[in-house]
Amino acid sequence: MPRPPTTGARNQRATQPLGEALRHAARRLRDTSESPKLDGELLLAHALGVQRTDLFARSHETLNQAHAKRFQELIEQRAEGRPVAQIIGRKEFFSLEFEITADALTPRPESELLVEAASAHLESMGGRARCMELGTGCGSAAIALARQWPNCDITATDICSAALELARRNAARLAPDRIRLAQGSWYEAAGKKSRFDVIIANPPYVESRLCRLGPLRYEPRRALDGGSDGLRHLRAVIAGAPRHLSPGGILAVEHGANQGKRVRELMSEAGLARPVSQRDLAGHERVSAARKAEPEKERRTGPWNPIRRKS
Ligand SMILES: C[S@@+](CC[C@H](N)C(=O)[O-])C[C@H]1O[C@@H](n2cnc3c(N)ncnc32)[C@H](O)[C@@H]1O
Repeated sequence: MPRPPTTGARNQRATQPLGEALRHAARRLRDTSESPKLDGELLLAHALGVQRTDLFARSHETLNQAHAKRFQELIEQRAEGRPVAQIIGRKEFFSLEFEITADALTPRPESELLVEAASAHLESMGGRARCMELGTGCGSAAIALARQWPNCDITATDICSAALELARRNAARLAPDRIRLAQGSWYEAAGKKSRFDVIIANPPYVESRLCRLGPLRYEPRRALDGGSDGLRHLRAVIAGAPRHLSPGGILAVEHGANQGKRVRELMSEAGLARPVSQRDLAGHERVSAARKAEPEKERRTGPWNPIRRKS
């Protein structure tokens, strides 16, 4: 285990013990953060270049001036509202650690539902399937799927070259040689004739007027702005799905807390069958899925639900 560089070089005067610095930080962040203690620990570990768990045995050690100054700068960024993940450049998703930059949305826990919806369908196909993620950002959902489904053929797209470069770095580290990355607007990136068994997307779905509020102001607008009603990109993704799904294939999309009903209607209007929604941990409808009908099979099978949560 690396030793945190605490007491430092001789010419750097020692300041306060780590434990005390952490207590000050937690007090400074209590109005900004729901987890001020954890945030302080993550930021101190980042300032020292160590793991958070390394801090616990060393709370009596002293921070040198350089590290104390760096820690203070990070705490002030957090106090202004900047998310920890953006400050430290890392975020965990599906127990994997992703590099984060200002070019892509920080992965959210609720997006794990999207991966679960895809996984439920892949399971029913024995894991051998063609899967596409539209608007992959840092690559989190596509990479989580690649790790879970070694026989799944995965394409991930984005309109933004800088986001794709970030996804490429994350994929090279976490799922090397597993994901085909392509640039373009929604289905353009995949090519007219491509067909998939699973398509997932977390498109920008925030109403334009809300995009600069709170922590959202630190995320790229391109990743958030869904137009005046928030549905502009969801409409495009849903309308294009029937042309790119194999018979029996599913589309699963993430959407805003109040958009579930409208998204299911859009899915039906596009000719997709049996749209259903899944709630997130806060109880909001968050992910909806529907399938491209297989006429023969539809007559033989009973009710279908593409979203099954693991118990
Ligand atoms: C809400 S973010 C989702 C990022 C990532 N999939 C996640 O769940 O964390 C939406 C992504 O869609 C991309 N995007 C926006 N407009 C697009 C378009 N017309 N075609 C393809 N991707 C687009 C953005 O660059 C951004 O990476």
